[in-house]
Formats: sequence, C-alpha cells, structure tokens
Amino acid sequence: MNEFRYFMPTEVFFGQGIVKEKKDLFLSLGKRAYIITYTLPGRHYALEDVTTALDESRILYQIETGIEENPSTETVERVAASVRAFAPDFLIAIGGGSPIDASKAIGVLLKNPNSSGLDLYSDSTLESLPIIAIPTTAGTGAEVTHFSVLTRTDKDTKQAIAPRIFPRYALLDATYLMEMPLRLSCSTSIDALCHCLESYISTAGSELSRAICEIGFTYFSHCVEPMRTVLNNPACAQSKMPYTYEIREKHMMVSLIGGIANTQTGTCLPHGMSYALTHHKHIPHGLACGLLIAEYLKIFKQPENIACVDRAIHLCGFQDLNDFSEFMDSMLLLDANITPTPEEIEIYAEEFAGQKHRFVRHPEPAGKAEVLQIYTNSLLKKKH
Ligand SMILES: [Fe+2]
Repeated sequence: MNEFRYFMPTEVFFGQGIVKEKKDLFLSLGKRAYIITYTLPGRHYALEDVTTALDESRILYQIETGIEENPSTETVERVAASVRAFAPDFLIAIGGGSPIDASKAIGVLLKNPNSSGLDLYSDSTLESLPIIAIPTTAGTGAEVTHFSVLTRTDKDTKQAIAPRIFPRYALLDATYLMEMPLRLSCSTSIDALCHCLESYISTAGSELSRAICEIGFTYFSHCVEPMRTVLNNPACAQSKMPYTYEIREKHMMVSLIGGIANTQTGTCLPHGMSYALTHHKHIPHGLACGLLIAEYLKIFKQPENIACVDRAIHLCGFQDLNDFSEFMDSMLLLDANITPTPEEIEIYAEEFAGQKHRFVRHPEPAGKAEVLQIYTNSLLKKKH
C-alpha cells in the first residue's frame, strides 16, 4: 500500500431526532449562537428543532436568512459586519452547501475582525468560530469538509477560501430531506455521487478513502430503483414526499461519505469543468457535474483506470457505463435552452485547460483535447 494521511476532525452524529437528542452540544460551545440558514415557504423543521433546543438551553441567538446560492465574498463580509455587535460564541449552519460554506467564511471573519474578505483567499492560517452544521440537502457533504467555495465577483469566478475550516459537529437527520423538491433532490444526489466517483478515481485517493467511496457506491445502488420509480411515475414525482425515510437516510449517507472522501482527495475534472456551466449558464452545481460525469468516465484509456471505473459503476448498481449514462440523463431535469454554443464550449475548454492544477489528480495525461471532448460529447452530442 502507498503511504497516506487521513484527517476528518468533525464529530458526526447521525439519526432521527438527533438535534433534540444532542442539544447539550450547543451549550458546550457557548451562550450566544448565530444561525445561518434560508427561508422556506412551508415549515422549516430543522430550524424549529434548533431554536427549540437553544430556547431550552437559554442560549441567545440571531438568525440570518439572506445568503444567496453560491454566496459571494461581499455577502459574507456584509453578514459578518452585521453580526459583529452580537458577538456570537459559535455558528449554526442549517441548509445545503451555500449556508454551510458561507458560515465557514463568516466564522473566519468574526474570529479575525481585522481581516477583509480578500484575506480569505490568501491567509490559510486564519481560524473560525466553532460551527455546528446541520444539512437539509444530501449532496455537498459540506458538513464534514474543510472547503468553503465563494463567488468572487472581482474575478468573475468561484474560488475556495484558503483556511481549511471543518465544522466542530455535524448533526445529520434524514427527516430534514423528506420534503426536498425533486429537482433539488436529483441535483444533490448527483453531486454526492460525483464526489465519491471523482475521489475514487483521483490519484490522491488512498486505500482508506477508496474503501469509504465503495460504501458510498453501495448506498447509492440501494437508491437507484426507487429513484427510477419516482422519475418514471408522474404521481410519485409530484408527491410532497417521493421517497421513504429509509431511502432518504441512504441519500444522506452517500452525501456524508462523498464529503469525507472529497476532503481527503479533492475532486477531479467534472467538478472543475462544471463551474463554467454554473457560472455562465446558471445550471445548478449537481446537475452541471451530472452533465459531465458519464463522458468523463468514458475517456480513460489505461486498463487499470478502466477497471477502476467499471468497479465503481457496478457497485453503484449499473450494468455498464451506457446504463449509468442513461440513468444520469434521466436525473438531469434541466431547463431548455441551457446548452452552450460550440464557440462558448471552446472558450470554457481553453480557460479550463490553462489551469494546470486542475489536472494534477487526474490519473492519465490530459489537456484541452480531453476537456473539449468531454464538454462536446456531454453538451452537444446529447439532447437534453
Ligand atoms: Fe460538488
């Protein structure tokens, strides 16, 4: 075996009713909490559970719901400035990737009041206030990663902040996934699977991270038939709760495992290439990754890498890459008119190929030709 390092310091608690059960964790971090979440048209069960736990422990709190999707540097600066007078002891991030990523950056700015938003991209030594992360989607795995990706409006791109901020605690309850809209459910499931697949094929993978990914693939395989049933049945697709609690738990496990694996290895080409689609075409992150993943897995030439892909695909419950590709297409649920033109794809490929660090963990020689091939086969040769 090759030498490897494994580091994942977030303490994870998983189970139905876990926020109420573990309410003493909140008090262990202080008496003033700042909650970062989002608004919902209906009931926000996770927020209700958290505020009940805080009230019972007599912890003061404020709630921020103004974080946009793909939060910007300016947003985290604004929020940090607005809450500074409240002086929270810790943050509670409830939601998907955007609230959790934003909380990591806001936690750094609150802990380091003399730092600016731009310092987030240059000073990796900065620390954060403690964070409790409570996911309400099952895709990002941000509750167990050290990543925080923000939108840099000054550079017209997305970029990870330099400090590596792991939440102190992650509380995972699949109850919070039950009413997730179908499109968001598909997008986040694809994101979680891509984290596992890209980590598995990455040259940064270890025996341990790959073993964890294989568990994720197996959990995903248990979800394939239920997802097919829902996607093929309009009555199921329009249901408020299309999946059972047991399936939602498995969605959550794939996301958790994807986050753990992703933290060890980072992602590969599909994630990097997806950012242009999200930034320029506003395709949700998971769907953008899902557009590219099947064609990415088809570009391998070396037998050991082809065998690695085959093993992953079989563990996920598919016969072969074509079977996988058809399933991914059925999951995409894209709006019409998002397809880039060949000229736009040429620009995306040129820009991406210029970022040499993006290819470091790809296990075969690759450059603009491969990137162009993946974009073209994914976006122009298929009809979505
Ligand atoms: Fe992702």
